[in-house]
Amino acid sequence: MSASLATVAYIGAIILFILSLGGLSSPESSRRGNLYGMIGMTIAVLATVFGPRVTMAGIPWIIGAMVVGGSIGLYAARKVKMTQMPELVALMHSLVGLSACLVGFANYIDPMVALNLSSAEKSIEEVEVYLGILIGAVTFSGSLIAFGKLSGKIGGKPLLLPGRHLLNLLGLLAVFAFGWQFLHAASISAGMIGLTAMTVIALLFGIHMVMAIGGADMPVVVSMLNSYSGWAAAATGFMLNNDLLIVTGALVGSSGAILSYIMCRAMNRNFISVIAGGFGSGVGKPAKKADGDAQPAGEVVAINAVETAELLREAKSVIIVPGYGMAVAQAQHTVYEITKLLREKGVNVRFGIHPVAGRMPGHMNVLLAEARVPYDIVMEMDELNADFPDTDVSIVIGANDIVNPAAQEDPTSPIAGMPVLEVWRAKTSIMMKRSMATGYAGVDNPLFYKENNRMLFGDAKKMLDEVLVALKS
Ligand code: TAP
Repeated sequence: MSASLATVAYIGAIILFILSLGGLSSPESSRRGNLYGMIGMTIAVLATVFGPRVTMAGIPWIIGAMVVGGSIGLYAARKVKMTQMPELVALMHSLVGLSACLVGFANYIDPMVALNLSSAEKSIEEVEVYLGILIGAVTFSGSLIAFGKLSGKIGGKPLLLPGRHLLNLLGLLAVFAFGWQFLHAASISAGMIGLTAMTVIALLFGIHMVMAIGGADMPVVVSMLNSYSGWAAAATGFMLNNDLLIVTGALVGSSGAILSYIMCRAMNRNFISVIAGGFGSGVGKPAKKADGDAQPAGEVVAINAVETAELLREAKSVIIVPGYGMAVAQAQHTVYEITKLLREKGVNVRFGIHPVAGRMPGHMNVLLAEARVPYDIVMEMDELNADFPDTDVSIVIGANDIVNPAAQEDPTSPIAGMPVLEVWRAKTSIMMKRSMATGYAGVDNPLFYKENNRMLFGDAKKMLDEVLVALKS
């Protein structure tokens, strides 16, 4: 393939990637967005493999690597459960970071790279290598820790080392100092000292940064690492002089940064305080009893599936709020069956989606789309919150933190200020979960004890199946 044809193919791929991002911004166009992305990536890979910079001798190596990598990817994609998607995404981000590091080291030690460069170009190349490895190493280790936290292999409790801000500051100063040494090194082996030292610091910083983040802030970290992986890819593009990789990396980096901003707004947090860490205490501990002033007060009233069906049958308007537990129980199809039945009876059924419901951005939208719930009844939190007082029944399916009134009512709560779906303002709220355990942020939920709240205990799928049977009878 000639250089000009490869350039045309790259421009085509870039346009498709931009259209893909545009398509992914709404559920209706997301399938089309995915398709554009897949076509763009196929064109990009073909134009790179058969482009002017790859020799014939290199092609079998590349194809061999693609077969191995592609098979692992295909196996993982088939095997992974929907609830494990966030962990898989974190793992993929770590691979982008790792490749940026490997390309950086390979570029630095390859004598052919520096052969035709002027001294100014060589300095620029070295800065690219240094920055590329720095971003790549933080992304790599940070994403591995995020994988551990999201999969429950590492506890969600923030690790708050004494003097952690000072440690980070010292690390940053050391990165500058080693950068100076690296750029002024007389030989490659001397430069490797600064480069390796910086890589170790960046790896430790990535670990420390994500370990310090509490449960409820993980959504911001997931999207932030997504953004970092984009910048790591862009840095790799600079090192390889590949314009497509630079543009694609910048697209991922900036869209991830925008997503992080949206997540911060959704949690009513500022970005710096998230990075500083410490918010949210852990995963799934039992809620405290209502025996003290600071504890949630009131009775917990349990109901069964038949009583739930009765409440739904009598309702004129229902709002369903799904959360992580719906994904765990894979209850979305039954939820849709119930929705269909109620809508046929003339009940106004809508879904309320919190921006951080579940474990990844858009998690609930994906599940509801998979179950074919019509998009026009799936609303965002801001569109729906004012409607709860006019709602007969709000039904919470495996959600917890995103409907926790403590965010509004208790200024001392770790999630104080986080916007939540105000399900308790409906005439009756029904909370479906298996126990009295807390959600991801490890914060007690006073909703359990509200007078108009009922608890439907059990696995969401099993209980909804029973509700469906009762509704049909
Ligand atoms: P959570 O607060 O995690 O609550 C989920 C609830 O589902 C749990 O309390 C659990 O209670 C229940 N549950 C689990 N399995 C169930 C099953 N099979 N059947 C019925 N219930 C089940 O979820 P949420 O309300 O969706 O909030 C999301 C949380 O995750 C937020 O804190 C958010 O910050 C965090 N987070 C979000 C993301 C993104 S990007 N969305 C990423 C990482 C973390 P039981 O054990 O009693 O059943």
